[in-house]
Amino acid sequence: MIQYDEAHHIFKLDTPNTSYIFGLTDESYPGQIYYGKKIEDTDLGYLLREDERPQPPSVLRREKAGYFDFYPMEYPSAGIGDARESCIGIHTMDGQEGLELRYRSHQIYAGKKPLEGLPATWDAEPAGTSETDPDSSDKTTDKEVQAADCSCSTLEVTLEDEVTGIWVILSYTAFEDTDAITRSVRVENKGERSIYLTKVLSACLHVEQENLEVLTLPGSWSRERQIQRQKLGYGSIVTESIRGISSHQDHPFMALVTENCTQTTGDVYAVNFVYSGNFIAKAMRDQFDQTRMVMGIHPDRFCWKLESGESFQAPEAVLVYSDEGLGKMTRAFHSLYRNHLIRGYWKDRRRPVLINNWEATYFDFDTEKLLAIAREAAERGIEMLVVDDGWFGYRSNDDSSLGDWQVNEKKLPGGFTYLAQEVNKLGMKLGIWLEPEMVSEDSNLYRAHPDWALQMNGREPGQARAQYVLDLSRPEVAEYVYGMIRDVLSSANIEYVKWDMNRLLSDVGNLTLPSDRQGEIMHRYMLAVYSLQDRLTKDFPQLLLENCCSGGGRFDPGMLYYSPQIWCSDDTDAIERLSIQEGTQLLYPLSCIGAHVSICPNHGTGRVTPFETRGVVALSGTFGYELDITRLSDEEKDQIPGQVAHYKQYSHLIRNGEYYRIASWRENHLCDCFMIVSKNRAEALCTYVQVLSQINCKSLRIRLQGLDPDAFYSVTEVTLAAGSENEAAGKRYQGAALMYAGILMPRVMGDFKARLLYIKRI
Ligand code: GLA
Repeated sequence: MIQYDEAHHIFKLDTPNTSYIFGLTDESYPGQIYYGKKIEDTDLGYLLREDERPQPPSVLRREKAGYFDFYPMEYPSAGIGDARESCIGIHTMDGQEGLELRYRSHQIYAGKKPLEGLPATWDAEPAGTSETDPDSSDKTTDKEVQAADCSCSTLEVTLEDEVTGIWVILSYTAFEDTDAITRSVRVENKGERSIYLTKVLSACLHVEQENLEVLTLPGSWSRERQIQRQKLGYGSIVTESIRGISSHQDHPFMALVTENCTQTTGDVYAVNFVYSGNFIAKAMRDQFDQTRMVMGIHPDRFCWKLESGESFQAPEAVLVYSDEGLGKMTRAFHSLYRNHLIRGYWKDRRRPVLINNWEATYFDFDTEKLLAIAREAAERGIEMLVVDDGWFGYRSNDDSSLGDWQVNEKKLPGGFTYLAQEVNKLGMKLGIWLEPEMVSEDSNLYRAHPDWALQMNGREPGQARAQYVLDLSRPEVAEYVYGMIRDVLSSANIEYVKWDMNRLLSDVGNLTLPSDRQGEIMHRYMLAVYSLQDRLTKDFPQLLLENCCSGGGRFDPGMLYYSPQIWCSDDTDAIERLSIQEGTQLLYPLSCIGAHVSICPNHGTGRVTPFETRGVVALSGTFGYELDITRLSDEEKDQIPGQVAHYKQYSHLIRNGEYYRIASWRENHLCDCFMIVSKNRAEALCTYVQVLSQINCKSLRIRLQGLDPDAFYSVTEVTLAAGSENEAAGKRYQGAALMYAGILMPRVMGDFKARLLYIKRI
């Protein structure tokens, strides 16, 4: 629900348990007042500190420049006094900077409009009727709007800079079924002259709490999204990417948490960005102990020319506040992404159990080898064969052929038509790998169009993994790429695509854009990727699309809008995966996290883990295999039918359950544990991994979460391999006992041992 208190000039956005409040000063500067637990009253203008002057006592007037450097501006602009990180910057044709944004009008309407060309959260129903004409951003309504058929309502506030004629439209959506608020920004040039938009961030949050820490998700290739907490002192903490992808190294997420924050206690103010390219998130504590956190497209390498009459739409940011620690924040993100971001045919469907040939064969495969894998897989209940890198052009290592998306008939005679027929005969689906954004130097495409690679005048572009990035910001290049994808997918019954992207963007120049539009390329590139995936999902509505970026380098809400699952990491070691998946699960539902059982010794770490443990760890994702099944021992092969059966049996929980993190191997260096609980609290799955074995120790007492304290439950030990279940001899446990007193996890001999518990209300 969204309200405007006209008497006090206060906007209040409510979700089930939170309120976000901002107001207007007498001079119409919008200022943030509060984000936190729900408050019914709207009269909070007294918190705006309108008359405070944090200057020497001799200065009796409130002076503009000094005030701006203190006031918690809702959408701070550069150049007029606020010396903290601003959200918007421009460059006029006179070479000047600065915007003074004042409230002009607002409208409130039920539902939510899509963001043109960009991924964004959506309403359950199409946007409802507006109190005022939604097409006019220059009208004011002071009524509450809450249409019964919408699960959210939207506020658009128009701000104006009188000197340049720049309008800034701030959009806020409050969801009725999830404690999340989304924000986005549109800039309109209503002035007579062009301007350059040099910075346009999407969200700004002011938090009036001391002793804050900043939580981010830094990482690396094969070590994505490691949870990091740092104390926020004076100054700032930044997480950012200028790689052209959201990246392995940083993640478009930042949370301010109180220092006592745990999974179940403490305050969390989180922001996640629905965008897959360059971003910046910055938290800063100022001289007055005020904390500001901003998030948006990175201003480095961004400069967008806005002609008179044109507008620029910045992506969406998601805000979540939790007063009960990180667990509640996680559940809010999962709920929003499951119900208001992920789309399409596969959104709520169980995904087929797949077997991917990458770690099985790398580039060394042919039809026979693939069919041998498929036959053994089909016998054990695996449902889809995915042909990874190496099926096209004359690619036999990573040096060639990207861009030549024609089947290599030497490897696959009869192409995908034949392979699909044979795979379908086994009762399996066929999926393929593609890397459409790239071109190898050694490829027919590059030889024909060397200018299609991103490059700067007179400078040899740099290669990474022996490849260049296609300049998708050029429409003719994007069109050609789409044609190739469409041709391959139309050639056979291909039901799944793994869309890969294996390098950062460098040499970001476009040979066709004028000099003053070169700063637009990074964002234009992202828009082109979104547009390609949008077309793909519309033209092939039942295609299961899995995004990938050298593992999890573009695992973000932007990509989730197009693909319901994303490959989490190239690190398939079950133990390494515990912390990679923990960081990923912090924000993203398990139903979208690509996880496979792979071979041991693991190709990346050399570690040997039990087959059972690899199954349990992969079970908390989309589940599949990435190994040469023909070379497994009989003992391992025999475990597969049980693993597949259990994945199917618990898939409804994995896809829809509520997530509770119980213990973190990253923190305790001993064990990892989390639960997935059905919404009605009738059943739950508890995953436990004893990472390191110890001698002479008591068993650990684990306190479960999320159950009904008054209900009684049975606890069953599930052995994935044998397909068997061991119920603890009719024992009934009260929910309160399981949660407040706990259960014992017996110490077992050996490292890397997993237990899976199924908990059911009786
Ligand atoms: C990337 C992906 C892998 C695999 C290879 C193929 O690294 O993350 O899963 O597809 O490319 O080249």
